[in-house]
Amino acid sequence: MKNNVIIAPSILSADFSNLGQEIKDIDDAGADWVHLDVMDGHFVPNLTFGPPVISTIRKYTDIFFDTHLMVSNPDDLLMSYKEAGADSITVHKEACKDITKSLSKIRELGCKAGISINPETSISGLENFLDHLDLILVMSVNPGFGGQKFIPSSIEKIKNLKLLVGERPIHIQVDGGVDHEVAPKLIQAGANVLVAGSYIFKGKNLSEYKNNISLLRNSF
Ligand code: DX5
Ligand code: ZN
Repeated sequence: MKNNVIIAPSILSADFSNLGQEIKDIDDAGADWVHLDVMDGHFVPNLTFGPPVISTIRKYTDIFFDTHLMVSNPDDLLMSYKEAGADSITVHKEACKDITKSLSKIRELGCKAGISINPETSISGLENFLDHLDLILVMSVNPGFGGQKFIPSSIEKIKNLKLLVGERPIHIQVDGGVDHEVAPKLIQAGANVLVAGSYIFKGKNLSEYKNNISLLRNSF
């Protein structure tokens, strides 16, 4: 079980003034994926970075870039994210006019396609998109900021999602407030990708990042 779990540090809590080195360090520290939180100041009340920054940090590592778009109208820039170096692109259900179209476009670009649901969004309806999906991201905080408290009802949601997904090759990812206490419950519920920002980047250097990733990995 342990070996199949993907740890995806979110660089939202990294040092933005030193992002290239941070990406390199987190890769060397044993991350499986890097989680890129793109925020537009519209879909969420915060603003981070977009394709130009992603293409700059792409030069520092070959690690899988897991791109979480917290933006309105995600379709407009999908090609730019692909060109910048995204390996997967996850769009929010709440932000898409035509989810099937968005997911199909992501796959046509050669990226893995993900859909994210906010804490107040139900999983009902997702059964219609399973054939178009490589990943479902369960937000376990309200999107927009790192360092928030985990919302416990997310665990039940993951259990129901796992029942829905069954044995299909679809990742179940959880994002927000993940630490070594909640991680075992998430894995038991059926998640296989853990995003963690502040928990990992509260460390100040490569060896602390490594230690935090190990603590998380050894918790389940
Ligand atoms: C929140 C982001 C998360 C966030 C996680 O909108 O999608 O990826 O950075 O940060 P922590 O792990 O600090 O909750
Ligand atoms: Zn995220």
